[in-house]
Amino acid sequence: MKSIASAPAKVILFGEHFIVYGGKAILCAINKRITVESKLSDSNTIHIDSDIGIITVPKNQLIEDIDIRFRPIIFLAQKILRQFNSDSGLTISIRSEIPAGVGLGSSSACCVAAASSISGLFTSYSKEDILRLALEAEKTIFENASGADTTSCTFGGILEYTKQGIQRLDMYPKFQIVIANSRIIHTTSQVVERVKKFKQKNIEEFSKLCHNEAILIDQAVDALKNNNIEVLGEKMIENQSHLQRIGVSNQTLDSMINLTKNVSHGAKITGAGDGGCIIALVDDSNLQKTLQALSEYECFPTKIDMSGVEQKTIHDNS
Ligand code: PMV
Repeated sequence: MKSIASAPAKVILFGEHFIVYGGKAILCAINKRITVESKLSDSNTIHIDSDIGIITVPKNQLIEDIDIRFRPIIFLAQKILRQFNSDSGLTISIRSEIPAGVGLGSSSACCVAAASSISGLFTSYSKEDILRLALEAEKTIFENASGADTTSCTFGGILEYTKQGIQRLDMYPKFQIVIANSRIIHTTSQVVERVKKFKQKNIEEFSKLCHNEAILIDQAVDALKNNNIEVLGEKMIENQSHLQRIGVSNQTLDSMINLTKNVSHGAKITGAGDGGCIIALVDDSNLQKTLQALSEYECFPTKIDMSGVEQKTIHDNS
């Protein structure tokens, strides 16, 4: 028997950085997935075969001694095997359509898919249970993980996220998002630290920007609920100007956004900035033109994923 689960990547539509100072962010899951396949084995080991490498470790290996790239998945494997008093080992295979390290939530999606795939060998957990497990796993490498990415990858759809809680927006988007990858790897914590310094130096201006961002996001939520693509695009352009002001965009990202200027409805960076990806808002009328405008970069169209994590069990005789 094997258990196969997949979970979607995510983008931040609005509110990155300002959320750190009490604002709201809008996240959405996209139809690029990471798939995890698990199978019990007779060995006394946990074996992972993935796009980023292969590892085999004894079942009871101390979690702190495990290569950080594989730690959350080994953590999940150990925890679930223990939970179900299993004497078996595990073989796990991971395949991803999500570029890593560029703010698309690949590590959260991997934790969610792995939690669902491994637990699916024993039971059928609710999405809430999967989320709890995945977040625990993610915290073995990102102690301060907020849970926003993990929630997005678990439930899919569009989420309103504040430090007080997370709420799914009840709507079916008509737009699509083109993602273009600068291939510049960023370190979120470093960019967040720089924004903190900007805030300390520019207290009044930063507070005004937070205020304007909050208004912008309320308008963007209304536009999302009404599927008003024009307004949504305008709000993305406005949001990008806030991000430029706090210094998280750069020449490469600005020029990528500029390329989409006359073709998409609006564009901005997504996530921490300094590198990573930009997103451009499109519909059927301008999708191809936008892809063409960005063709010198790795770029691809995405739709909003409404289903979140999905799991199925395949029995050997089926
Ligand atoms: O690039 P990402 O997906 O790691 O996004 C970071 C979002 C920030 O607002 C910059 C930081 C945070 O913890 O919310």
